[in-house]
Amino acid sequence: MKSFPTLLILLFFGGCHLFQRTPTTAPVIDRVIQARFPGGRDEFNRTPESYEARAAHGMISSEGEPATEIALDVLKRGGNAVDAAVALSFAIGVYRPHSTGIGGGGFMIVYDERSAKAEVLDMRERAPLRSSRDMYLDKSGDVTDKSRWGGLAVATPGLVAGLWEAFQKRGSGKITWKELVLPSAKLAREGFAVDPDMAEAIEWTADKGLLEKFPSAKKLLAPNGKLLKQGDLYQNPNLAKTLETIAEKGKDGFYKGWVAQDIVAAVKKDGGILEQKDLDRYELRYLDPVKADFGEFTVLSMPPPSSGGVHIVEMLNMAETLIRDIDLESVSNWHLKAEIMRRAFADRSKYLGDPSFFKVPVSGLTSEEYAQQLTKGIDRSKASKSVEVQPGQPAPYEKIHTTHFSIVDDNGLAVASTQTINYLFGAVLVAGASGVFLNDEMDDFSAKPGAPNLFGLVGGEANAIAPLKTPLSSMSPTVVTKEGKIYLVLGSPGGSKIITSVWNVLFNVLHHKLTLRDAIFAPRMHHQWLPDKLVTEPGWETATLQGLRDKGHEIEELKTPSLGSVTAVMVEPGGGKIGVADPRRGGAAAGY
Ligand code: GLY
Repeated sequence: MKSFPTLLILLFFGGCHLFQRTPTTAPVIDRVIQARFPGGRDEFNRTPESYEARAAHGMISSEGEPATEIALDVLKRGGNAVDAAVALSFAIGVYRPHSTGIGGGGFMIVYDERSAKAEVLDMRERAPLRSSRDMYLDKSGDVTDKSRWGGLAVATPGLVAGLWEAFQKRGSGKITWKELVLPSAKLAREGFAVDPDMAEAIEWTADKGLLEKFPSAKKLLAPNGKLLKQGDLYQNPNLAKTLETIAEKGKDGFYKGWVAQDIVAAVKKDGGILEQKDLDRYELRYLDPVKADFGEFTVLSMPPPSSGGVHIVEMLNMAETLIRDIDLESVSNWHLKAEIMRRAFADRSKYLGDPSFFKVPVSGLTSEEYAQQLTKGIDRSKASKSVEVQPGQPAPYEKIHTTHFSIVDDNGLAVASTQTINYLFGAVLVAGASGVFLNDEMDDFSAKPGAPNLFGLVGGEANAIAPLKTPLSSMSPTVVTKEGKIYLVLGSPGGSKIITSVWNVLFNVLHHKLTLRDAIFAPRMHHQWLPDKLVTEPGWETATLQGLRDKGHEIEELKTPSLGSVTAVMVEPGGGKIGVADPRRGGAAAGY
């Protein structure tokens, strides 16, 4: 990408104040802080300041305090960022069973500034061998809900295989596998107080009637028949036993033996098709990151089978061509951003899928020429209609699933990892004896061309179901470097909103020059082509929203700030680390 003509001017005025808040953006951040922290504290009983940490050596930002603490302990004991990521992954799976866990999968980018190389590990779920293209259609050809909940929704989990690989290949060798896994077994056995986020997930699942349908989940989430509420103790002793087995036997503790048998039996009993053969055949992949320059920065993000990196770069390219305004609240700024998001998601519906099965035109979609071609169709004075915006020709309300964490250690190693079991509590099916919440990642495939999935996303041929294929993802772990040095590590949960949340924060930092905390605290907007509406978080000025309506945008105003949850670490020029966790889901940053 070409550098911004404005960049020099910004740097001149911003100068050494790169991390200071710009006056034009202060009012919106202040309004948001007042609304989210009435009386100085939020629903997690936290102050705004508690979401930011500064330290000289290593830094971690994740979506759970116990998980951040477990990983921080690994860094303090001499482990590297990959060791910390392994420990954190097991811990966050225990702490956020509604978001992620060993029954699911994820992506991990490891960036080593000593070699200036990024390694991208794909540990996402794969479709079982017995899956087939129309497996979620009924006799009339209509889409059923079997990709969403229960045995048939479960794809072959990849997380444990990925963590084992990362540990073997990139671990420091100073901390044993057992030492990385056992703290999570302890957390599962001793339990912890349910936080507002998990309480909301439990209530949502119960309201949908899913706990009645899945007694093994009910046993954990409503012990003694009463739904767990905020502050109640949640424990999963069977998961503790599973983690102890994994600590003892490595990845075979999950993919073979009693844990594997328990998972296969639970899926089969509930009408699913996952078999021991699928677990035996699970294969990891290494991929090349999607890479683009943005002024003096290099953005490294997740390639297909995620759509995240491709569309983040596509949107950065379009924004670089179109947006000169640095006022975060201006109508023209958000009008253009909405049009940019609309076009990227139109492309997603046609071109993105598993690269082992479908040729994704990555270089075409991420080229500057293509961005310029797309922006020619954007009218600065009025909104397009999504029905009139078709994919180009290149060479519901957000819920609290998926998780992301960012780590930078003291030796130039960074990890960005986004992990998931897909929707809330995944398939809501728990393999009883092993306590594992199983994923419903099959719903990320396109069950039928044009039919929306749980995130309202539509797709076609590129993302059709096939045995061993990987469902298309939006997960976007991202590392930004400057002259080869780590500058920013970030990512988010949120399904389709992951892509726009990461892009919003990246643009807030790289273009609007907000501090990392302000960039994450700032309200967001999201457009995904279909449905044709611009979703906005609370905090925007009425005049901004009215200006967008006047241009023809249909606005859906969310009542709570719930577009993604970005956890990030930034490295200052002197090497100091700033970690920020998103107050939207009560995350925790800590360093040493
Ligand atoms: N399961 C959400 C995603 O991968 O985008």
